[in-house]
Amino acid sequence: MQQTFPIIAPSILSADFAHLGQEVSDVVAGGADWIHFDVMDNHYVPNLTVGPLVCEALRPVTSAPIDVHLMVEPVDALVPMFAKAGADSITFHCEASRHIDRTLSLIREHGMKAGLVFNPATPLAWMQDVLDKLDLILIMSVNPGFGGQSFIEGSISKIARARAMLDEYEERSGRRILIEVDGGIKPKNIGAVARAGADAFVAGSAIFGKRSAALYAEVIAEMKKNAVLGRGQN
Ligand code: DX5
Ligand code: ZN
Repeated sequence: MQQTFPIIAPSILSADFAHLGQEVSDVVAGGADWIHFDVMDNHYVPNLTVGPLVCEALRPVTSAPIDVHLMVEPVDALVPMFAKAGADSITFHCEASRHIDRTLSLIREHGMKAGLVFNPATPLAWMQDVLDKLDLILIMSVNPGFGGQSFIEGSISKIARARAMLDEYEERSGRRILIEVDGGIKPKNIGAVARAGADAFVAGSAIFGKRSAALYAEVIAEMKKNAVLGRGQN
């Protein structure tokens, strides 16, 4: 799984589902690094999307990592199913698993990268005692459930606080835990998000909203450029 900044992860939630395979090929050809796969269950979040069957169908379409974001409760039963379907990473919400440590281990035992997701109101302290089991964290910059929402500005300081915690951990352990940010990311705000310390950037409507392969490449290139410029301002 590619780990080099800046990682752009288009969210298929805003793709044209009648041509999902083509949409995935087009964003990868346009420079996308991961495919962000949003799973919603109409229980943990008030929306319903796709599951392992669709992940399995997309697997042969691309060699890009499939980054599964589980907005489901409970979590554990889906872990082996997504492993079998070819997922490369699974992130899940702190509040959605009764036993976070166990769920993180389960994901890794199935050969995938494991990550915790923080809603806008979820404290970062949830990660403190499981850092050794984390490959990434996902900070939500909107409330989960829908694409196309506005970026919550307070997320910037939260990303910076997470970066400080994870940098301190990296100094101690020699291991880098990636920060992914999800919700309302656009070319105009990605620089500030990168500057705060994010490595990976999910974007649904900003990319797939363009509805043309040529424009996907253009917006992904613009996002990468602005992310690099933003981080450079540190
Ligand atoms: C929201 C999802 C996001 C969403 C992002 O619950 O987790 O991945 O698709 O969409 P945009 O980029 O449009 O905010
Ligand atoms: Zn997501």
